[in-house]
Amino acid sequence: MKTIIEKANDSAIQKAAEIIKRGGLVAFPTETVYGLGANAFDSTAVKKIYAAKGRPSDNPLIVHIGDKNFLNEIVKDINSDAEKLIKKFWPGPLTIIFNKKDCIPLETSGGLNTIAVRFPANNIAQKLINLAKVPIAAPSANISGKPSCTLSSHVIDDLNGKVDMILCGDDFFYGLESTIIDMTVEIPKILRPGAITFEMIKKVLDKVEIEKNLISEHPKAPGMKYKHYAPNADVFIFDANQKNISDKINELILQNSDKKIGVLACDQTKHLYKNCFVLSLGDQNNPTVIAQNFFAALRTFDANGIEIIYAESFAQNGICFAIMNRLLKAANYKFIN
Ligand code: TXA
Ligand code: MG
Repeated sequence: MKTIIEKANDSAIQKAAEIIKRGGLVAFPTETVYGLGANAFDSTAVKKIYAAKGRPSDNPLIVHIGDKNFLNEIVKDINSDAEKLIKKFWPGPLTIIFNKKDCIPLETSGGLNTIAVRFPANNIAQKLINLAKVPIAAPSANISGKPSCTLSSHVIDDLNGKVDMILCGDDFFYGLESTIIDMTVEIPKILRPGAITFEMIKKVLDKVEIEKNLISEHPKAPGMKYKHYAPNADVFIFDANQKNISDKINELILQNSDKKIGVLACDQTKHLYKNCFVLSLGDQNNPTVIAQNFFAALRTFDANGIEIIYAESFAQNGICFAIMNRLLKAANYKFIN
């Protein structure tokens, strides 16, 4: 398939909207990561997303809307707590799970009767959805299991030749996928941490809990059970609170000198590592930047043929909790302390 690759100006977005209307696939930027979109009402179009990504068909998609008022058309039972979240956080990086209406096909919801909905804050995404005049089902625009795409070059690497069009934005990004909260259960539950943090949601809702297994191996969001965000290298995380982790890591680098080793560090620690490929995610006191750089760093390790990655851990609160969740998945939960 020939993929149209264009900078997301008005005429390109118009072209992309026509493709969506005709049942095609368009990768587009959002304020979190790039999405791979199709008409959420069109089961044939949605099946093409699973094929292009190599995604298991029981892993439901997020439906993106371009206007709050559209929500009523696709979901049932919007309770007052959900309304509070919408008022506070939409448009933005919060995905809310509702009971779905029949107009959303089971292909889009991965066979579930619930549906995840998001109103993205990104201008290009909003224009695209509103010009297409349909909600757009879009998972992250990476090959299934690979790190999500935060730059158009990542999307081109993964999807050129597999989709109809790639809209290139390279705008400001949070760099991690949206927070997901399930509002169909008695106590609202965060299924995936993101830039809208537990602490922020707690200020709006009386009750909210975090899926217990989020940082272990068996979480509830269907997609979370698959290997995720994984670079080609084997990843090991080291407890950054421990003294002298750089000594420990440098020792391991020497022991494995036949392997190409990468270290994921921050500005404060990058100079401590020897005889390896070091990447800094940024200033450790600026977690927003760390989140923005995270997926690109995993891809840079791949591009440099790194076989083992030793990564420093992050805190477990605020957006760092989301970074740590992605890092643990990339490492297949190998945490050394
Ligand atoms: O920021 C984002 O959310 C990006 C951009 C493109 O919007 N999208 C994204 O989609 O991250 P994806 O497909 O990579 O992740 C969606 C996650 C999956 O883990 C999926 O299992 C979960 O949401 N999910 C979707 N619908 C669900 C539902 N009804 N119940 C529970 N989990 C659901
Ligand atoms: Mg994804």
